[in-house]
Amino acid sequence: MPKKVLIVDDRLESLWKCAELFRERGFEIMTCRQSEKALGLFDQYRPDVVLLDIKMPGKDGFEILKEIREKDRRVCVVMLSALGDSETVVQAMKLGADNFAEKSTDPEKVLIVVEKELKQKEMEMEIAFLKAEQGIGPLGVDHIIGQSEAIRKVKESVLSYANNDLPVLLTGESGVGKDLVAGAIHNESSRSGKPFTNLLCPGITPTLFEAELFGFERGAFTDAYKARKGIIESAGGGTILLNEIVEIPSHVQAKLLLILQTGVYMRVGGEGKTIHSKARFIAATNADVRDALRTKRLREDLFFRLNAAPIEIPPLRERREDISFLAQHFIRVESRKIARSEVELSGKSMDFLVDYDWPGNVRELETLMRAVVAGGSEDVIMGRAFITRDMKAGKENGLGSRLKDAIRKETESIEKQMIAQALHRFGGSRKQAAEYLGISYRSLLFKMKGYSLRDELPSVQ
Ligand SMILES: Nc1ncnc2c1ncn2[C@@H]1O[C@H](COP(=O)(O)OP(=O)(O)OP(=O)(O)O)[C@@H](O)[C@H]1O
Ligand SMILES: [Mg+2]
Repeated sequence: MPKKVLIVDDRLESLWKCAELFRERGFEIMTCRQSEKALGLFDQYRPDVVLLDIKMPGKDGFEILKEIREKDRRVCVVMLSALGDSETVVQAMKLGADNFAEKSTDPEKVLIVVEKELKQKEMEMEIAFLKAEQGIGPLGVDHIIGQSEAIRKVKESVLSYANNDLPVLLTGESGVGKDLVAGAIHNESSRSGKPFTNLLCPGITPTLFEAELFGFERGAFTDAYKARKGIIESAGGGTILLNEIVEIPSHVQAKLLLILQTGVYMRVGGEGKTIHSKARFIAATNADVRDALRTKRLREDLFFRLNAAPIEIPPLRERREDISFLAQHFIRVESRKIARSEVELSGKSMDFLVDYDWPGNVRELETLMRAVVAGGSEDVIMGRAFITRDMKAGKENGLGSRLKDAIRKETESIEKQMIAQALHRFGGSRKQAAEYLGISYRSLLFKMKGYSLRDELPSVQ
């Protein structure tokens, strides 16, 4: 995809020169001559790079830079300065510009600066990615893949909540990306150098949970031979993600609310000795929040506090336009992990992926793509398509398992026959047979093995 560049400059000549050169080099360009309109265009167009003239009538480049940085800490902003205007340049860099270029000279120089900055950003992303892969840290907002309106909104919320300290409530079905989004909020915030603690709440007994979270003093309970810090204390000024908040016992939810309101809590057995928490809290749940409130699994007061900064991530089936991007993303990532060349998905596979309902959401898609990469072919997708179609047909028509069995056997028999015929037709050449059948060489071998067609050239009537 071409990178998008927004050029804001009131001078027509320099604007055009720049636009022309960038367009020639394959960038997508949006130009803006009236600085008042720059921010609106930025919101609409969501560029990868902003070229910003400093001196403009009306709003100047500094003001626009500040406003852009409030919205987006990552977008590449290059200031266009007049010759020898070093002081203003220093000021722009302090306000968060990535670099500057002198616009009165050759626009080629502007292009070099932009390309360098983009490369730098790419490298930073790569490093962040490698770190996250090795469990060193969470990923930033750029790693949330998807072009849907819903994901665009999620990313916007991530960036705006990253800059304040409100507790966040993340909701959405299992596998929609709540952990990923929580990590991104942490990563984009000023806490990114501090620990990110991902706490799985279910399964821990209530007493242990309190001890884990708040820490305990010596003698607080039978096995407490020594005082110990809790997760909140160890997290320092970092971020704590409380997974499945509705599973936390009600009285602990009340203590959490107190921390959110006052920043103060006590260790178990440490009554009277208050501790100040500096951590930021993010709560997540895949439960239906309204139902959890009704059944009192989630305290209403805690909910209201958390809901000041809500992020709801819709299920994948409600944002199908994200599927192809995600599928390709996972293929790229997984292939890179095991140093394999990337499998290309056919239109037929993609149609299935987009039509399928993904009850396990993005996690299910990720797992399927992992299987595609490991198997080196898209056969597993067709296999899944077959089973899904079969199940649907079974459900819709009320087909019994015997009938389904018969359909499967019939399909297999046709497939076996077609393979045998193709092999016969091309004198046993597997490569040609695979091409003729429109399947990959690997999948032909796989099927031949399954149908015991491997060693003999079958005779066909
Ligand atoms: N938009 C996305 N872009 C890239 N990867 C994604 C996206 N959404 C989810 N994933 C990936 O899908 C997997 C599942 O996501 P995650 O663990 O964040 O889901 P979850 O909502 O926390 O699920 P659960 O409720 O089961 O804890 C992860 O590997 C995550 O990185
Ligand atoms: Mg999760």
